Amino acid sequence: SKQYNIAVIPGDGTGPEVVAEGIKVLETVAEKCGFGLNFSYFPLGGDHYNATGEILSDKTLESLAASDAIYLGAIGHPDVKPGLLEKGILLSLRFHFDQYVNLRPVKLYEGVYTPLKDKGPEDIDFVVVRENTEGLYAGAGGSLKRGTPDEVAVQESINTRKGVERCIRFAFEYCRKRNKAKKLTLCGKTNVLTFAFDLWERTFNEVAKEYPDIETDYAHVDAICMWMVKNPEWFDVIVTDNMFGDIITDLAAMTQGGMGIAAGANINPEGVSMFEPIGGSAPKYTGKGIINPIAAISSAQLMLETLGEDKAASFIEKAVIKVLREDIKDVAAGKMGFTTQEVGDIVAEYIQKNF
Ligand code: IPM
Ligand code: MN
Repeated sequence: SKQYNIAVIPGDGTGPEVVAEGIKVLETVAEKCGFGLNFSYFPLGGDHYNATGEILSDKTLESLAASDAIYLGAIGHPDVKPGLLEKGILLSLRFHFDQYVNLRPVKLYEGVYTPLKDKGPEDIDFVVVRENTEGLYAGAGGSLKRGTPDEVAVQESINTRKGVERCIRFAFEYCRKRNKAKKLTLCGKTNVLTFAFDLWERTFNEVAKEYPDIETDYAHVDAICMWMVKNPEWFDVIVTDNMFGDIITDLAAMTQGGMGIAAGANINPEGVSMFEPIGGSAPKYTGKGIINPIAAISSAQLMLETLGEDKAASFIEKAVIKVLREDIKDVAAGKMGFTTQEVGDIVAEYIQKNF
């Protein structure tokens, strides 16, 4: 039978708790569908850094490169200077493995609370394709006269034709495969960021000619935030740069029930991809067993989809839909009515019994 090597980085805070439930579900579904998963664990994160001084070594990168996929919990530790681990681990992995798309599905499942009044599952169902290796995240810039009254800090957004084009192409292809309106919206800021989004807009319009079956649309990022709250049903697939993608997907995550639900995938279609819930390490909830592991479980579903195990992925989604509709009443942390572990158990048990 087919075997996959999965590198697991449980990471910081509540990362390990939710990853454990994702793995429980993955093991159940792999057994059902007749493929094997070999998990190897990498103890990266704040505690490992404080204990050993390692952030991310070349040796670790080599081992990760030999895996079929990376499954990550969360990175970020209250006792480590902000940015050190985020840039040193999470962003380094995205860049090192050239995971140029950050895919973030936004789907309100039945039975899940949304703060959007009068909106339901039929209205909130879109995907954000976030560029993941360039933009403001490239780390370009510097500061002058730091610490003086004359200080100037510059943070530059890097946008290359190749980088922008491959992301936009991915979005068109993804849109074509999706069963919705087949509409791709470019999210930018062409009225102010006239260099960066000139490149984005021109590239978008050129590539669009190759996809006459896909309707295209453009909106400024601020307007996107407004429409996402007012008329989320307008969206099918949204493509945008790294920073805007980061911001709008937190907003979008809240409309689908919050950070405990929102899944993400860092994709390199020709290389090693990485799957992570988008919620972060949530230090104040660590060890309490109250974080919803559905985001991590749905990230595992995205991993199986990317590996081509579509049947197994659909089993996970069906189980998630059932559990959200019938078992979990309120998805706020601590109000699920179940512990993190129990949610993992219910999902795994449903798959075990029904497929
Ligand atoms: C995310 C996170 C990261 C990002 C942080 C932790 C560096 O917010 O995955 O959205 O900004 O990309
Ligand atoms: Mn973010």
